[in-house]
This record gives sequence, C-alpha cells and structure tokens, in this order.
Amino acid sequence: MTVDQATFDRLSAWQQQHGNLFRVRAASRDADAWVVNDPGDVKRVLISNHKNYSKGIGFERVALMLGNGIIVSDGDRWKSQRRMIQPAFHRQVIEKLSDTMIRCNRAMLQRWCAAADAGTPVDVTSDTSELALEVILRSLFSEDLDRLIELQGGNPFDLLVEDATRDLALAMRFRALTKHIKHMIEERRAEGRMPFDWLSMLMEARDKDTGESMSERGLLDEVMTIIVAGHETTAGTLNWIWYLLATHPAAEARLHAEVDALAGEPSFADLGQLDYARQIAEEALRLYPPVWLFSRKALGDDTLSGQPIAAGSDIFLSPWLMQRDAAHWHDPEDFRPERYADPEARELKRTAWYPFSLGSRRCIGEFFSMVDLQLHLGLVARELRFSLESNTPVPVEPLINLRSAHNISLSPLRRAPRRHPPPPP
Ligand code: HEM
Repeated sequence: MTVDQATFDRLSAWQQQHGNLFRVRAASRDADAWVVNDPGDVKRVLISNHKNYSKGIGFERVALMLGNGIIVSDGDRWKSQRRMIQPAFHRQVIEKLSDTMIRCNRAMLQRWCAAADAGTPVDVTSDTSELALEVILRSLFSEDLDRLIELQGGNPFDLLVEDATRDLALAMRFRALTKHIKHMIEERRAEGRMPFDWLSMLMEARDKDTGESMSERGLLDEVMTIIVAGHETTAGTLNWIWYLLATHPAAEARLHAEVDALAGEPSFADLGQLDYARQIAEEALRLYPPVWLFSRKALGDDTLSGQPIAAGSDIFLSPWLMQRDAAHWHDPEDFRPERYADPEARELKRTAWYPFSLGSRRCIGEFFSMVDLQLHLGLVARELRFSLESNTPVPVEPLINLRSAHNISLSPLRRAPRRHPPPPP
C-alpha cells in the first residue's frame, strides 16, 4: 500500500464525516476494523480495558525483523520481558548514558560546524539518522561498538541509515546482524567483562518470579528491538525539529535565548533549564508523531462510544489524527512550542497527545528520548542556526514510521557568540 499526504487527508475527511469512531473495510479482511479517535476510547483501549486488547495487524511485519521482542510479544511473556528490561531505562541509568549522548553529539556538531565554515549545506535527515543510531548503539554496546567497527572495517548496523526501505530483504539483512551481537555476548562471557551499557544489563537481568535470565534468542530479540524502536523514531523527530525551527525564526530565537542563559555546555543537570527545548520536542512530536498509526486486536467484545465492538475486531489508533484535531488543539496546524506553558495545553498533553502511546505498553524509551532530544537541541543551538535550502514545504511519507518524503537539506550558520557571561569567581 502506498501511503502519503492523501492518506492523512482521507483519514481526516472520514473523521469529519463519521465522527471519532468509524469503521473501515478492507476487501482482504473479514474482521471489522475501527479507527478510534475519541480520547476516552483511546484510554479505554490502552489503559482501563487494555487486557481485552492484544497487539494488532502490522506487527507481523515488525516480527520479521525483531523476532518475539518486547514490542511484538503479548501476555505473560511480554510482562516478564518488560519487568526485566525496565531497570535499564531507570533515571539513574539514563543520567549516566547522557554522557554518551553528549559525546556523540559533539562529534556530529564538529562536522556541522565545519560545514558552516565551508558554507556547504548538510543533509539533516541522514546526519540525524546516523546520530540517533550511534547514540542507541553506544548505549547498548559501549566500547564493543569500536571493536566491531574495527573488526568489520565499518559499522554493519549502518544499513539502517543507508537503506530507507523496510522490506523483506532489509529485514533479512538486519536479522543477519544478530551474529555480531552473539559474538559480543560470547566475548563478554569469556572475558568476564561487563561494561556499563544496556547489553550488560540485559545479560544480567533476571525474572523476578523465576530468577531465570533471558534465553539467548530472547536476548538477541530485545537488543534488535531496542535498536529499531529507538533509532528511527528519534531520528525522525530530530529531522522534523530542525525543519520546523528553520521555518519558525521566533521559536528558534527563543531557543537561542534559553541556551545562551546556561553557564556552559548543557548536561543532564541542566535539563530543568531546557524547558523550551522540551516544549519544541513535544510540539514536533504532536505535529509529526513518528508512530503515526498503531493497532490492537479486540480479544473479547467491548463497547466504545456506545458502539458494540465485536471480539476479533481490528482497532487503529492514530496519534497524528488526534494531535491535529481542532476539537482539542487551538490552531492545530501551527508549530507553537510555547503552547505547553499554558495550563490548558498541559492538561491536553494528558488527554489528546500520545506519541509514546499510553498505559502499561507505553514506550519504554520515552524518558531516554526526551533527554536525548533536549541535550541535542541545547548542544547544537549554542553554536549553530540553520537556514532552509528551498522554501518548498516538505511532504510527509507515512510508512511504518512517519518520515519526510525526501531528505531535508539545511545550511548551518555560525551563531554570533552572545553567551551568558561566566559566573563571577
Ligand atoms: C521520539 C522517540 C520515540 C517515540 C515517538 C516512540 C514511540 C513509541 C510508541 C508509540 C510505542 C508503543 C507502540 C504500541 O504499543 O503499539 C513504543 C513502544 C516501545 N518503544 Fe518507543 N518511541 C520512541 C523512542 C524509543 C527509544 C529511544 C527506545 C529505546 C531505546 C524505544 C523503545 C521502545 C520499546 C522497547 C517499546 C515497546 C514497549 C512495550 O511494548 O512494552 N522507543 N514507542
């Protein structure tokens, strides 16, 4: 199926015509399929009655790449995996991993500064994709990533950046990379080496009830899941953020004022002062939610908005649709990060904003991504601003994740130094 802006226009038109709960029919399927866009219904599916819903259609394709990793699994297996993985995403772990984020960002910033000095544009789409991948791989494998690159004469995971298709051939090529992870695990075991990273944490994780560790297959599936779930979503968000800032100078200026007020290069400790950076990320996630559509299957009968939903029905949830709905948001098509300073919009964030999903299956990487996005914005905006190469609006391409239909090229420009003076000794 080819999906593009027309898909969104159709979805919006159906919603306007039929309301917040409507049935769609596909000739290829027997079951009813419902698009659910009422905040109360979405909460029922994802939170209060979530036990009645399993992962739905579309996830078979994901399973080809990820095996039975946490994003695909259901029931007791999911519960056990989630409990074992959760500690790797605790605040203290992310705080330590933020050093890795900063190091990766510095390296990319150096390249962007060199481009600014040479007066050449940068391909923000592919550079941020590379950056997001590096942050995830270094958080997972730390020093072993350098060993792998040296051994292989390059980073074999780069295929995720180089090949934008997510077809069967790519899934097979990606799956074949598990051999490198297997090798790392064996080496760590043989050397008794457990560096501080997610791979060590997953290797050492034990099920609370049984005391068992993950099977080798389970461990590999979770590593592959984290790579895919964490890479493309963050990359897409970074891509749209820079596009939005390049086209909204007032927001860009507010970000500059915020980073200039910091005493130095931003770090984890400064996150509380990067409030506007956080609002920029939240607003980009509202307008361009990377997971723009996801699905569930009803296990038993249910009722949504007074309408009986038969067991076996497919349910489609679209953050895109709700987050651009004028019934909830003022000027929904406008990029206005400062809207979140308003108590009403903060409340809306709890009801009509769900780029990370909701409930027990809410994204495990949400805090990690928000830290990553804020630090990236803080680090880059201290040095550079961007101007758009072409004024033609960039169309969206909603595949599994929401992407820009073509790569975005921006010209980096050095900012005049107007830093906050260092504090008195
Ligand atoms: C802007 C960044 C991100 C967005 C918008 C996002 C969005 C989502 C969404 C919507 C889901 C739920 C899908 C569903 O229930 O069908 C999800 C689940 C998940 N995400 Fe993220 N994600 C992001 C970043 C990350 C990162 C950085 C990681 C890991 C490093 C990650 C790992 C996962 C995992 C493992 C799940 C499955 C959780 C479960 O089923 O228990 N995500 N994400």
